[in-house]
Amino acid sequence: GLVNTREMFKRAVNGGYAIPAFNFNNLEQLQAIITASAQLKSPVILQVSKGARNYANPTLLRYMAEGAVAYAKELGCKHPEIVLHLDHGDTFELVKDCVDMGFSSVMIDASSKPYEENIALTKKCVEYAHKFDVTVEAELGVLAGVEDEVASEESHYTKPEEVIDFSKRSGCDSLAISIGTSHGAYKFKPEQCTRDPKTGRLVPPPLAFDVLAEIEKKLPGFPIVLHGSSSVPQKYVDIINRYGGKLPDAVGIPEEQLRKASKSAVCKINIDSDSRLAYTAGVRETLANHPDYFDPRQYGKVARDYMTEMYKEKITDVLGSDNKL
Ligand code: G3H
Ligand code: 13P
Ligand code: NA
Ligand code: ZN
Repeated sequence: GLVNTREMFKRAVNGGYAIPAFNFNNLEQLQAIITASAQLKSPVILQVSKGARNYANPTLLRYMAEGAVAYAKELGCKHPEIVLHLDHGDTFELVKDCVDMGFSSVMIDASSKPYEENIALTKKCVEYAHKFDVTVEAELGVLAGVEDEVASEESHYTKPEEVIDFSKRSGCDSLAISIGTSHGAYKFKPEQCTRDPKTGRLVPPPLAFDVLAEIEKKLPGFPIVLHGSSSVPQKYVDIINRYGGKLPDAVGIPEEQLRKASKSAVCKINIDSDSRLAYTAGVRETLANHPDYFDPRQYGKVARDYMTEMYKEKITDVLGSDNKL
């Protein structure tokens, strides 16, 4: 069945790699995630946001994720390790509903609340979830931009001096931190970046690895999570723009920095936007080249192949979670 994150995080932190946490909303995304992780023998975290539950129906998503374990075995993966995780839970009620529905891991994101409220709400979720052996991710520090419906004016890096107190008193199993990543395909404003003189592409500022190092020093071996870690691959942006899309100056986190983070106590890396880009690239390209197509399987298959390739690249070239089962 589904597993929680406890053992896989321990191995990842000790082994110097990170577990991929991929969001899914539909069949094609789930097929691509399971195909890539099963073929490469990678543990994987399936993430479901509140928006995904609203889009696809909570019950359907839950059984799709449970079915994914059997599907991974059919693909030849004898001992799959698949987590079903709530992404950015914002209330105790939502967390409880997911625990009661068989999720093996949840996130309570109270990072926009005052410090003591964040601890209190996280602790309440931990007390409930742990009764069912469900692991809990918390967040301290605020990411730039919009976190689901929680808007934040500006980014606030996680304060290293708070992490010991926060993790002890909340009892969380892992901690999402803010070191300069953000959600979506426009992670930096052009004025925050320099431009590559040859390609004209935006070069973003580096993540705050000094803050990460301080946090690791305070909490040796404690599982750290990075949200907002899509790299926004130029190849998908180019395909989208070539076939009628308009994504000017989309920019993500350079893969080199994610590689570096994976070798640290960062043991979970969240990727959603790159899946959306690969998917949209496949659909746009196929429909532009085949105006006669109207069977969703025709463009769905191409989109799925693009996503599978993208997930495989993340696992092998960036996170290093292949052959870890
Ligand atoms: O953090 C946001 C994730 O990418 C999920 O996005 O809330 O639009 O499903 P969503
Ligand atoms: P991206 O938008 O960078 O893919 O981040 C996804 C995420 O953090 C989901 O929680
Ligand atoms: Na790591
Ligand atoms: Zn996130």
